[in-house]
Amino acid sequence: MSQLSIFLSLFIMVVNSSSLRAAGGCYTSIFSFDFLPSCHGRCSDGRLIVDFIAQAAGLPLLPPYLGGEYQDFKKGVNFAVAGATALENSFFSERGISIPSTNNSLGVQLDWFKQLLPSLCSSVSECQDMLRNALFLMGEIGGNDYNIPLFQGRSLEEIRTFVPSVIIVISSAITAVIEMGARTLLVPGNFPIGCIPPYLDLYSSSSSEDYDEETGCIKWLNEFSVYHNQLLIKELDQLQKMHPHATVIYADYYEAAMTIFRSPEKYGFERPLMACCGGGGLYNHNSSCSCGELGSTVCEDPSQYISWDGLHLTEAAYKIIATELLQGGKYTSPPIISTCFLQGKISSI
Ligand SMILES: *[C@@H]1O[C@H](CO)[C@@H](O)[C@H](O)[C@H]1NC(C)=O
Ligand SMILES: *[C@@H]1O[C@H](CO)[C@@H](O)[C@H](O)[C@H]1NC(C)=O
Repeated sequence: MSQLSIFLSLFIMVVNSSSLRAAGGCYTSIFSFDFLPSCHGRCSDGRLIVDFIAQAAGLPLLPPYLGGEYQDFKKGVNFAVAGATALENSFFSERGISIPSTNNSLGVQLDWFKQLLPSLCSSVSECQDMLRNALFLMGEIGGNDYNIPLFQGRSLEEIRTFVPSVIIVISSAITAVIEMGARTLLVPGNFPIGCIPPYLDLYSSSSSEDYDEETGCIKWLNEFSVYHNQLLIKELDQLQKMHPHATVIYADYYEAAMTIFRSPEKYGFERPLMACCGGGGLYNHNSSCSCGELGSTVCEDPSQYISWDGLHLTEAAYKIIATELLQGGKYTSPPIISTCFLQGKISSI
């Protein structure tokens, strides 16, 4: 039995015990606002980070809001939109950047949530209870705002100037959700983009100085992710001060992922920088032949790969990251373990 499944089963036992429920307020639902990169085939070979968090909370996997009718959203819903940006389309068109024809989805996702809310609870106090006992996963947001222009050949110098605007959009979404009654929010930072196949392919370089010796990731791209995360953390500190009755948790996806890239063999990843599904090349990423398109291939064993299709990770990688986030206090600040989520669990492990 893996460490994670021991942990999950212990935790589910704890959650199911009525004493804890009576003690008040462990999560009864999860709402996720997500900005998945677009994908041609499946976006992963299995469960995503949010799915593992839901399972750890003893909740069913989150149904997608856009997954059709006849869904029960009382225990949670995932408002994910593939390929959407946080910033409005006009921000990009003013700069001559063409983006896919998705609606400005952060505002749209919040509207969906407002429309859905009356069907989840029947009175003001019941709704407040529900929001108070829910975990809100705010992201990852902003990745596409950088991916799309970078893949169109814009300079990193220019993209760096977008970061403060992206942070403002994330911040206003967090504020809106807190004002609606949310009390616990988990806000992920960005992944180390210098380690993912499309960037490794696009910016492949003959200069060894561009690469991190230990991981083979592109240093200056990872530094950009760190820059976004630094501004995000600063903003979250401000938000926490302004809303002391809420708990705003930063989830360090960057360091959680880097832990894997630094010792991939420890986790059974034989090809840490190569995509499982793609159209060939050094990193199995080909901008003219994506995963799912004619001519692309899928690896035999996705659990040996960190990257599923270049932009999304495999279930195996998401599972490790989710475990790192949920266990201990290293990658969440304040530690998620200190929120009601995992209270009472430590002694039983
Ligand atoms: C954008 O939003 C409008 C109005 O809500 C809707 O009719 C349209 O289908 C949406 N477009 C996309 C690409 O989602
Ligand atoms: C990338 O895909 C194109 C179109 O399918 C193909 O012609 C080309 O050989 C591929 N490149 C590599 C490196 O596999």
